[in-house]
Amino acid sequence: MRVLVTGGAGYVGSHTCLALLRGGHEVIVVDDLRNASIEALKRVQRLAGRALTFHQFDMRDGERLDKVFAEGPIDCAIHFAALKAVGESVEKPLEYYENNLLSTLTLCRSMLRFGVSRLIFSSSATVYAPLSPMPVDEDAPLGCANPYGWTKLMCEQILRDVAHANPSFSCVLLRYFNPIGADSSGEIGEDPNGVPNNLMPFITQVALEKFKQLQVYGDDYDTLDGTGVRDYIHVSDLARGHLAAMDYAMGHTGCVAINLGTGRGYSVLDIIQAFESVNGVQVPYVIGPRRPGDMAIVYANTQRARELLGWETELNIEDMCRDAWRWQKRNPAGYGDK
Ligand code: UD1
Repeated sequence: MRVLVTGGAGYVGSHTCLALLRGGHEVIVVDDLRNASIEALKRVQRLAGRALTFHQFDMRDGERLDKVFAEGPIDCAIHFAALKAVGESVEKPLEYYENNLLSTLTLCRSMLRFGVSRLIFSSSATVYAPLSPMPVDEDAPLGCANPYGWTKLMCEQILRDVAHANPSFSCVLLRYFNPIGADSSGEIGEDPNGVPNNLMPFITQVALEKFKQLQVYGDDYDTLDGTGVRDYIHVSDLARGHLAAMDYAMGHTGCVAINLGTGRGYSVLDIIQAFESVNGVQVPYVIGPRRPGDMAIVYANTQRARELLGWETELNIEDMCRDAWRWQKRNPAGYGDK
């Protein structure tokens, strides 16, 4: 298939481009490289032994996007391009709403104009209302605690409405849990700007001794060891999930939300311990206060992904820790071109 991948140079996007190229698909990436590296795409092509097409522009530029659609028929779009830092979204809500909503609207407009009807959307478990029972399934109540989450939820609603108004439309909303790890080659991985917000990139940078210690955000949650529990998923499993969603979209119309997680929860201390023992490195940590907005436990009900996509995860927590560290060790400065 000819697949348009927006945000294809980012963390999940680059791993998905690799899986697409390896699966024999033709890949067209649109990315403005605001938060990503061209180096990631160079390495993806090298690993796959195949080329992709790259266009650098902001997804809100509808004229340029139309030109991409005019170059040849697109079978499916996968929409990753978005701003994604929770804290930043609280400080700059307008930037988040403007960017994430307008890029989705622009994409839908071009798709409808060119008769492209299959869309895989990069959503997040963050759309579930706080205090949802766990494991959380796709029919749980929705609601968010920050503007980033709201942009995901609002885009989901836009896409549901577009699918409703266009009966040939097929849209899969993929709600990711916590993607970590890297391609097993160690050539591509997560390369956050500045101080990492998320757990695994912080752990790998502590292991590199870029930071003295990790701060564990609270040990007084109602969990086995008191630290927060999350459903960590290997980014390569997540990437495969997009190919399964594409297959599903080939045979179905309408709009469906699907969780992509492992269905298992690990605490912060579990992750530190697994990382240390798999990699033989130390991750010094201190216990700090809770981070505002964090929940005690989040993990996925994975039944719908199994039933509709025939997809489930294959890689375990040790694989995730090993691959995250291999990438970081080989690339201490990330891609080094930002
Ligand atoms: C976060 C975002 C979520 C987003 C996801 C993307 C928040 C509140 N949520 O999820 O909206 O979709 O990233 O991957 O930011 N932790 C520490 N020390 C750290 C960093 C994290 O103890 O330095 C803990 C957290 O309290 C949490 C766990 O590690 O229990 C995972 O945190 P993180 O990787 O930031 O992911 P989420 O908060 O689940």
